[in-house]
Amino acid sequence: MRIVIVGGGVMGCATAVELAARGAKEILLLERAVPGAEASSAAAGMLAAQIESRDEAELAQFVRARDAYAAWSVALRESTGIDIGYRRSGVLSIARGEASLARTRSDCDAHRARGLRAEFVDRAGARAIERELSDDVAGAAYYPDEAQVDPPQLLRALVVAATRAGVVMRSGTTVAALVTERGRCVGIDLAANESLRADAIVLAAGSWSSLVTGVPASIPIVQPVRGQLVMLEERPPRASTILFDDHAYVVPRGDGRVVCGSTTEHVGHRREVTAAGVQSILAAAIRAAPRLRDAEFVRTWCNFRPGVLSDTGMPLIGASPLPGLFLATGHYRNGILLAKATAETVANAVLGWRGPFGA
Ligand code: GLY
Repeated sequence: MRIVIVGGGVMGCATAVELAARGAKEILLLERAVPGAEASSAAAGMLAAQIESRDEAELAQFVRARDAYAAWSVALRESTGIDIGYRRSGVLSIARGEASLARTRSDCDAHRARGLRAEFVDRAGARAIERELSDDVAGAAYYPDEAQVDPPQLLRALVVAATRAGVVMRSGTTVAALVTERGRCVGIDLAANESLRADAIVLAAGSWSSLVTGVPASIPIVQPVRGQLVMLEERPPRASTILFDDHAYVVPRGDGRVVCGSTTEHVGHRREVTAAGVQSILAAAIRAAPRLRDAEFVRTWCNFRPGVLSDTGMPLIGASPLPGLFLATGHYRNGILLAKATAETVANAVLGWRGPFGA
């Protein structure tokens, strides 16, 4: 069975590793830039299941995905020698003002009622957990099981694991169109006048997914939502807990590096870091942890979250309405979190599809 994966980000690479681990042969992964070097490796790497979920179903799914990372990080280290920086660093979700305090308390109660760890802490309690936290907060929700990974390390590990498992990777390859015959997706056309046939095609091109011609109109459009980020460095390292303040966040890596984010911008694929973006990120980060004003400014970058234009905005995962085409895209803010879970679902769907080929 020949499988072509379109996109070498975290979804494409994780799916390739999962398929290979289950014995699939002839896996070809195509990436327009360099596998592992694009949007996913530019994410902040929060495994923030409890604060990023929007409803009960997402909460359960996100918590499972977050907790599965502990074993996955060990498996990737054992198979590749690469440490993906998995740390259960916890999150303090900051409350300011009475309304926000009341909401924070009831959020903690709701999480505990579902058997999850969540603690409402007042200002002193929050500062006892993270001494870098500003003293102008009213309180916080503390979620000790929230975690993080270092996305560039995760992508390095996945690329090494995939390559060692025999996955063939082609960089600098732009997929122009899906090839459909008799109502089935049977291959792809590359921009460089080349066609490739396959038994299964996995579309994992993130915010570029809707640029591939031939994707059925019934599949929602995936659009880029730009997020700018800033890396600071504290010497010596001080902060250790992720701080979440509305949608601004401070993610201390534990070694002095601190990732601060992020903007949410609908500007297409404009790869720009703007003065206003950096200003707003730094203002929020320094408000949350004032001593960050003395941290060294290291660099800025941006990435494109793949946002699904549909009523629910749910990611597109598994079999598609077009037989032979499988989807692993549209994860918006939660691509790193859901990578392994998505890879498993897509591998189930693809390998279940072997039947028609008698492979
Ligand atoms: N997951 C955080 C973000 O998308 O900014």
